[in-house]
Amino acid sequence: MSVAIPQELVERLAAARRVAVLTGAGISAESGIPTFRDALTGLWARYDPQELATPEGFARNPKLVWEWYAARRASIAGVQPNPGHTALAELEKRFEKFTLVTQNIDSLHQRAGSREVVELHGNIARVKCSLEQIVVNDFSRDESPPRCHCGAYLRPDVVWFGEMLPADALARAEDAAEHCDVFLSIGTSAQVYPAAELPLRALSAGATVVEINPERTALSRHAHFALQGAAGIVLPLLLNKLRQL
Ligand code: OAD
Repeated sequence: MSVAIPQELVERLAAARRVAVLTGAGISAESGIPTFRDALTGLWARYDPQELATPEGFARNPKLVWEWYAARRASIAGVQPNPGHTALAELEKRFEKFTLVTQNIDSLHQRAGSREVVELHGNIARVKCSLEQIVVNDFSRDESPPRCHCGAYLRPDVVWFGEMLPADALARAEDAAEHCDVFLSIGTSAQVYPAAELPLRALSAGATVVEINPERTALSRHAHFALQGAAGIVLPLLLNKLRQL
């Protein structure tokens, strides 16, 4: 499927000084990491988020949750950033201010070379104390889950359902959304708040809102441009068009 990039969009992007981007699981799909809500392949079609992604699920079965994240961590370590990640890292260099807000926990943006990355849902590579909520680097890898020096279990430093987002990351994301000329929403189903609110904040503040997703989402009808295609195809095309201006 070929995706046409509207010239009007290319011109608005070329004229922009401040760009904000929100990414979701879809941008890493072409690297081989499953999304959450795609009907057959999504993680939440096969696993129960109540058991694996809530503090209550962890309290009920810490071993199961620890091992599920350990398996995801191992599979993420084996994949590479794709052309969508790389195009975003290239785009960043073209603007005075460029903030990349991600719901992903996989570090693929950073590995592709993006510098200004705001992680809204944490990072699977980090581990924190489930009681003190501080990041812990030194722990026994033989236990499942390992324990903090305080005696509490360690857990992945990711945001689970029912938990607050890191306040500083959310504040930076909201600021970027409210003070940008163009906002790109890429590879997210726009269903999980407060991330899903960011493009709407940008819209209210007068930004041009662009969606890149092979499927339509709750955001599509609000976006100025909804480009239906895979991020790994559409983003390099968009970057090329910008370079040709
Ligand atoms: P979802 O799984 O909800 O949505 C992924 C989106 O990516 C869908 O709209 C797909 O159509 C789209 N997509 C699939 N392949 C794509 C591609 N090649 N290029 C572009 N888009 C593609 O994932 P998120 O919106 O990221 O939170 O989910 C948000 C949060 O819900 C996650 O951070 C996670 C999850 O529960 C927590 O675990 C706290």
